[in-house]
Amino acid sequence: MRFDFAKAGSGLTYEIRNIVEVANHIKSFGKTISWNNIGDPIMKGERVPEWMKETLKKVLDEDMAYAYSPTKGVDSTREYLASVNNKRGGAQITKDDIIFFNGLGDAVARAYAAMQGDGRVILPAPTYSTHFMAEVLHASYPPNTFSLDPYDNWKPNIEELEEKVQHRPGIVGIMIINPCNPTGYVYPEDTLREIVRIAKENDLFLMFDEIYNSMVFYGKSTPLLSDIIGDVPGISMKSLSKEVPWPGGRCGWIEVYNSGKDAAFDRFIKAIYQQKMAEVCSATFPQMALPIIYEHPEFPAYLQERIDHYQKLAEIGYTELNKSKYLQVNELKGTFYMTAVFKEGVLNGTQTLPTDKPAMKTYIESRLSSNAELDKRFAYYLLASEGICVVPLTSFFAPINGFRVTLLDKDIDQFVSSMQRIARAADAYVESSKI
Ligand SMILES: Cc1ncc(COP(=O)(O)O)c(C=O)c1O
Repeated sequence: MRFDFAKAGSGLTYEIRNIVEVANHIKSFGKTISWNNIGDPIMKGERVPEWMKETLKKVLDEDMAYAYSPTKGVDSTREYLASVNNKRGGAQITKDDIIFFNGLGDAVARAYAAMQGDGRVILPAPTYSTHFMAEVLHASYPPNTFSLDPYDNWKPNIEELEEKVQHRPGIVGIMIINPCNPTGYVYPEDTLREIVRIAKENDLFLMFDEIYNSMVFYGKSTPLLSDIIGDVPGISMKSLSKEVPWPGGRCGWIEVYNSGKDAAFDRFIKAIYQQKMAEVCSATFPQMALPIIYEHPEFPAYLQERIDHYQKLAEIGYTELNKSKYLQVNELKGTFYMTAVFKEGVLNGTQTLPTDKPAMKTYIESRLSSNAELDKRFAYYLLASEGICVVPLTSFFAPINGFRVTLLDKDIDQFVSSMQRIARAADAYVESSKI
């Protein structure tokens, strides 16, 4: 080539998928892999119910399912979503306040890309990688973060959040994932109201990723942004990927609250819309199916059954992982992720686990640089030794060593066994340095 024209990128990697390459290599040594890394219920054996398949087949009979849709999305679907929102009684919207994307990951990328580089969004740490990477890609490293405390049930440090937004004038927005990926933390209403207050007092907008909103355990719920936002400008981000679940449908959307109340915020939303126009529109088919799925008489019971299953696995994960002397796990209130942290100071760069073949160890070591994160080292050894694929916590961009597992196994005995093996492996790994 005439010159090196590829964009440099942010230098960050999406470890949730990056580790798949390592796992596939370990598989080539004859090891069976238990995939506990990615939040795809279907890949973990969730059967798509017949009523849903029948619904989709009927939609496919409509010629319009093959057409482009309006740039913001299918009109009738946006009308449906606006009316569902408005019935809750909080911030009111029309269909024009909704824009569809090809998955929420797409919406996230577009939203940050529509901001000027010196406008920053403060993020929780740890945070879901797509937000972090998009924020850093649009602006620069380092990001602005506020911490979630693993020693206090992943509670957010609201004082830190407030202090940072007051002293860093570049911050224009606050991003919250509620319920949270990767920690599973479910924000209580008073904390959410505090965050809204901070946004209001500091002239900021709110960006709430609410993809897991319905996945709260023990019959409880958590408010949506529209319930509590008052007159602060904000965006809710939603998707069909998790609750339906249809991650391969690539169907996500944003709902914009309080447009018309702040000129800079309105220009930001317009910039998102203009990017979308250049792309024409998002996939029409899942948008057409959306109201029919949500309104299907079998959907509520199907969703509840899955939530109850995740709750059960969360309890098992909590019990089994806490049996390790060196791990700490919090009780989970929602989502289908569980994050374990290593107790402080127990990891170092010399620890290992036994592997079936010496070549597996050689491979793992070749994938780890000398300054590799300590939890990544553990995750790679866990893969080679036990064939269990988890995501290191540092790849969710927090300086805490640990890992995230999914609670998506359909086979409960297999899940119990995976958790027991992880706990035993964690202890063996930590203690390997003493030998
Ligand atoms: C918090 C969060 N936001 C966004 C996404 C992206 O979802 P989608 O499949 O709609 O792109 C995910 C996927 O795991 C997620 O966990």
